[in-house]
Amino acid sequence: MTPVSSAYQASLRLAVAPMMDWTDTHCRVFHRVLAPHARLYTEMVHANAVVLGDRARLLGFDPVEHPVALQLGGSEPQVLAQAARIGADWGYDEINLNCGCPSDRVQAGRFGACLMKEPALVADCVAAMAAAADVPVTVKCRLGVDDEHDYDRFRAFIDTVAAAGCRTFVVHARNAWLQGLSPKENREVPPLRYEWAWRLKRERPDLQVTVNGGIASLEQAQAQLQHTDGVMLGRAAYHDPYLLHRLDVALYGGTLRGRGELLRALRPYVEAQLARGVALKHIVRHVLGLFHGRPGGRAFRQILSEGAHRAGAGWALVEQALQATEAGPVAASG
Ligand SMILES: Cc1cc2nc3c(=O)[nH]c(=O)nc-3n(C[C@H](O)[C@H](O)[C@H](O)COP(=O)(O)O)c2cc1C
Repeated sequence: MTPVSSAYQASLRLAVAPMMDWTDTHCRVFHRVLAPHARLYTEMVHANAVVLGDRARLLGFDPVEHPVALQLGGSEPQVLAQAARIGADWGYDEINLNCGCPSDRVQAGRFGACLMKEPALVADCVAAMAAAADVPVTVKCRLGVDDEHDYDRFRAFIDTVAAAGCRTFVVHARNAWLQGLSPKENREVPPLRYEWAWRLKRERPDLQVTVNGGIASLEQAQAQLQHTDGVMLGRAAYHDPYLLHRLDVALYGGTLRGRGELLRALRPYVEAQLARGVALKHIVRHVLGLFHGRPGGRAFRQILSEGAHRAGAGWALVEQALQATEAGPVAASG
């Protein structure tokens, strides 16, 4: 493996979670403006799709996204190895294996969270991926599946996979229930047990442990970082993206920029995409939460979500939405 960049090393402290349908390239470019140092993740892509599918569509990303990790789904070592090599050649800084997704579709394909039950297979996958790709191969997992609550078993999973060449684990600190819960419920119902991630870090100090699940404020993130190497935020980062900016400044330094200034920094990207024929709605759907809880936040969201669907919608609409947040207190109260 070639040595990792200092930017990648620094990004181990803060990450935005892989989220299907959400963390596409437009979303990641926006998050990069907000959080210059964070590690960004793609949506999960199945290894077969990477090997056989339209790579430009599945893997294409903007250079500003670095450091960016490609998350793969799958459970066939050789296919995952091919996909990992393709991802590394494509320029991804990290290849991550999904061992946490509980959906039925994923279970039918024997990947995602059900892999927690097959540590030896995950180890084979990781070993094959690490041999094929010259970037770090990491794993995102849960604490266990169903009603299995056994820390030693969780640590044995980690140890088996670490021995195969994985040094960084993202731990979504709850179980996945493979029966009876939707993926959404599986992100809410099984209780969070951060102590397991903390204990793992204490007992395996050489591993990089990133904790994920339910972290929704600067204070919570900072508290987690007393015990782990990194935090990964998913829903909170998406719905309240300014939190990402505050986190980046708190963890890495720099000056807080205003929401409007940050969004305007995205203008060259938006205009370049529009010129390529990308519709505005595909980009601005990710920025709707920027003024979450702020005066004019509802109007901002409404102007963008209604107007971006219209033919010919362009940057002027974004300015119009921003004006709703910059108006005086009376006009902005909606
Ligand atoms: C819409 C959505 C899609 C998701 N897709 C993925 C995915 O593709 N791969 C993955 O490992 N986790 C996925 N997750 C789970 C998140 O990465 C994360 O583990 C989970 O939301 C808990 O973190 P949070 O409480 O900070 O949101 C998804 C979550 C959401 C909300």
